[in-house]
Amino acid sequence: MPLKITVRSVLPAREVGDLMVVGVPATGSGSRGSTKKNSRSPLDGFDRALGGALGRLIKKEEFKGKKDQQLSLSTLGRVKADRLIVVGLGDVAKLGPGDIRTFAAKAARAANADKAKRLVLGLPDGLEGRLREVVEGLEMGAYRFTKYMTGDRKPKAELTQVTICLIANVPADAKARVDLGQTVAAGVNLARDLSNEPPNVLFPDAFAAAAQVMAKEANLKVQVFDYREIQKRGMRLLQAVGQGSEHKPCMVHFSHVPAGTSAGRRRIVVVGKGITFDSGGLSIKPAAGMGEMKHDMSGAANVVGLMQIVARLKPNCEVHGIFAAAENMPDGNAYRPGDVWPSLDGKSVEIINTDAEGRLILADALAYARALEPDLLLDNATLTGACVVALGNSCSGWYASNDATAEEFQASVKGSGEQMWRMPLLEDLKDQLKSDSADLKHTGDRWGGSISAALFLREFIGNVQNWVHCDIAGPAMGDRIRGWDPKGGTGHGVLTFLDLIERASRNAGAVTNAAPAAPAASAPSVAKAPGAKKKAAAAKAAPAAKAASPAKAAPPAKAAPPAKKTAAKKTTAGAKPPVGTRHVAQSKAEGPAKKNAPQPSTDGARTAASRRRR
Ligand code: BES
Ligand code: MN
Ligand code: ZN
Repeated sequence: MPLKITVRSVLPAREVGDLMVVGVPATGSGSRGSTKKNSRSPLDGFDRALGGALGRLIKKEEFKGKKDQQLSLSTLGRVKADRLIVVGLGDVAKLGPGDIRTFAAKAARAANADKAKRLVLGLPDGLEGRLREVVEGLEMGAYRFTKYMTGDRKPKAELTQVTICLIANVPADAKARVDLGQTVAAGVNLARDLSNEPPNVLFPDAFAAAAQVMAKEANLKVQVFDYREIQKRGMRLLQAVGQGSEHKPCMVHFSHVPAGTSAGRRRIVVVGKGITFDSGGLSIKPAAGMGEMKHDMSGAANVVGLMQIVARLKPNCEVHGIFAAAENMPDGNAYRPGDVWPSLDGKSVEIINTDAEGRLILADALAYARALEPDLLLDNATLTGACVVALGNSCSGWYASNDATAEEFQASVKGSGEQMWRMPLLEDLKDQLKSDSADLKHTGDRWGGSISAALFLREFIGNVQNWVHCDIAGPAMGDRIRGWDPKGGTGHGVLTFLDLIERASRNAGAVTNAAPAAPAASAPSVAKAPGAKKKAAAAKAAPAAKAASPAKAAPPAKAAPPAKKTAAKKTTAGAKPPVGTRHVAQSKAEGPAKKNAPQPSTDGARTAASRRRR
């Protein structure tokens, strides 16, 4: 459930809640510092109400409002909340989007920890224009994955209501900003939910079912390719990786195609790795940490979360979201080291290590995606441990096929505040992919393992010029709370990809020849004058007239926890896909893949909507 958020121009000390969190700038930081005579502070009124206790504590703790400085005190009922937390923000003018999200996320987390249902959040002057980030932080900070907890482990209270208190007047576009922030955070939280689902519940087909639930709710076109269709189309690498599991692979393709025409409208295709569990296959992983590999579908989860946001914001660009899902397991039918497999692209691949499965399923997904002729092809994957060794757990590594594309992506990295670092596609490492028995080996040396994985993927983008590969192996799964991210699945990447899409939408020309406006759902909401200021455009990107339905996490319904009763059943230890989401492969069979002829499916495919009507 989204939070109930209201924005008011009022001193927090006058508000009512269970917990009050007030952000204050550093004393003497710029014109908005609280030292300036007559300037109002969101702390006004507290010291008096608390009989001077706040002032004494500020002095004793030498609280100067420096970034991350914090005070916490019980109010003993002297204001209308049990506790007051004062958070230093440093120089407000210097706060990036990530800083603001982190501040708001901390407030939401503190509320949940306090069992506070109502939070009063006091903002200093200067943050009234940053409501989108504040709300994103609140929603993402309030996120918890508790659906499998029972009894005492089930949280007794959760944050439901937030009053944001401003010193300045409430901006005219406040509601649009709040809605936008909630839409964005709902998408990230959906990606987290999917990533956190246990691997005995989220099998490839359950993942596809969850994707269809999202598409249906968001009114987005989706196609699902089942195992038969994958084989028919010649996605043999995806087949190879998935065939060692009882739960066969599948592929999902969402599309957002705006109505009408528009000069400069771009086609962006985002691809994700969806390994629902990575045991390593026959090249099995060590036991320690193997459970983390339930998150190995985080790239695909990001695609689902991102496409939910896209469906609601309706940007003026074409956006396709594609993911390949498979479970990498060892059994009598598993693919082996030494195998040679054809790919959808046509190239043959010698399997070296079955634990390097991600690049194989992505190879077929990229070959499929490239036939859509994207202006920009983006993939994201929990691809290599080597990338985590290089950049740690809080930063992903990305590669771009050319510098202009890199510049564009870098602008979005900066815009989103997510930590991502550009990596080099070192050409000399390509030699490592030479095979004695096939066109390509699928792994290189241990050293530079993230780079050789990227070089392998590049073999499958055909003549797509603008490609970015993002290795999210580190930050996709948090071992602790970081910034606005929780422990577990984070949705890292969604914000950057969204920023890119929003920029593309802003840079496209006005929509012409649009069909007569259909009611609410299809009203384009992102059109704006070229060159319009970023903030104004961002505000306009808010959901169309009718508020989008609240984000419902759409993991498989009625998931049976690992249980005694289900142990005997052979078929599914987890849940059946929700009713109405049966996988009907595209009706048009195209036969085996021809060399260099991946078969995208822009026609003849049944959408979720048309399936429902049958
Ligand atoms: N899913 C893993 C990569 C990974 C590692 C993700 C750690 C998140 C955290 C991937 O499928 C894998 O196993 N990669 C191998 C490749 C190697 C066999 C060439 C790796 O990185 O060790
Ligand atoms: Mn692996
Ligand atoms: Zn993997």
